Amino acid sequence: MTDRLKDKVAVITGAASGIGAGAARLFHAEGAMVVLADMQEGPGAAIARDLGARARFIRTDVTSEADIAAAVDLAVSAFGGLDIMVNNAGIVGAVGSIRETAREDWDRTLAVLLTGAFMGIKHAARVMVPRRRGSILSVASTAGVMGGLGPHAYTAAKHGVVGLTKSASSELAQHGVRVNAVAPGNTVTAMTAFVVTGDAADHEATRARIAAGSPLGIAGTPEDPAYGLLYLASDEARYVTGHTLLVDAGQTTGGTIPAFHNGPASVIGAPAVG
Ligand SMILES: NC(=O)c1ccc[n+]([C@@H]2O[C@H](COP(=O)([O-])OP(=O)(O)OC[C@H]3O[C@@H](n4cnc5c(N)ncnc54)[C@H](O)[C@@H]3O)[C@@H](O)[C@H]2O)c1
Repeated sequence: MTDRLKDKVAVITGAASGIGAGAARLFHAEGAMVVLADMQEGPGAAIARDLGARARFIRTDVTSEADIAAAVDLAVSAFGGLDIMVNNAGIVGAVGSIRETAREDWDRTLAVLLTGAFMGIKHAARVMVPRRRGSILSVASTAGVMGGLGPHAYTAAKHGVVGLTKSASSELAQHGVRVNAVAPGNTVTAMTAFVVTGDAADHEATRARIAAGSPLGIAGTPEDPAYGLLYLASDEARYVTGHTLLVDAGQTTGGTIPAFHNGPASVIGAPAVG
């Protein structure tokens, strides 16, 4: 490891599992002090214990503004500040036809995925703006840049995260604070395993299914979006703000391989007339 985040302090929500846990371990290995904020106390506290003195766990529900404020305040009291905020906690949320989606299921989904990110940006900015530095990150999704890749509420919320990233960056740039997002494609975690196989622990079958549909022929692991987060968190990205970095094996840009990519090379012009 290369100490890319040496002496930086990070709060990561949803850090007890999947992408958040991958980011917590990677940031820590790169020298950061990390606050793991999650509803799952057992696994979250276990990762913090495993990481040691430069890590803390705090039970956090990202739908509670007081909980998010407390996670940010813990970073300041335990480690002396906040340099990096990662709004990552997520659920799949409401699924099914839009005609049958219950209002409360819609609200709950947006509360976790979009309002949670809003409150994370708000409270990170509270600490970062007076210090005139910081990197705020949110984990969006390919479903935040295209329709048809996720359920309705999830898709709307993740598009909201991409929009809020641009909007917040346009205010906070003048204060030296950058705001970016990473949009993962299908990544092998408990969330996708449950969707793909019905069993949150069945990562092998999930990996095979994701790889089969991936333009690169491989399945994403939590480290893939975590490396994107690492870049955007680090000073290497000091000139980057308002950006959403796709980490999706080309799913949203290339998708399927058109037949003419692999045919004989020639030029198709206007058909000859006469
Ligand atoms: N796995 C993928 O393929 C994929 C793709 C695109 C985007 N994402 C996004 O990545 C993020 C992380 O998902 P993951 O795949 O690692 O899933 P995961 O289920 O492994 O982890 C999600 C974590 O969020 C926590 N969480 C859920 N609701 C919470 C709340 N209200 N307050 C605090 N913590 C809460 C869970 O306890 C869990 O530890 C999510 O925002 C998800 O939408 C995932």
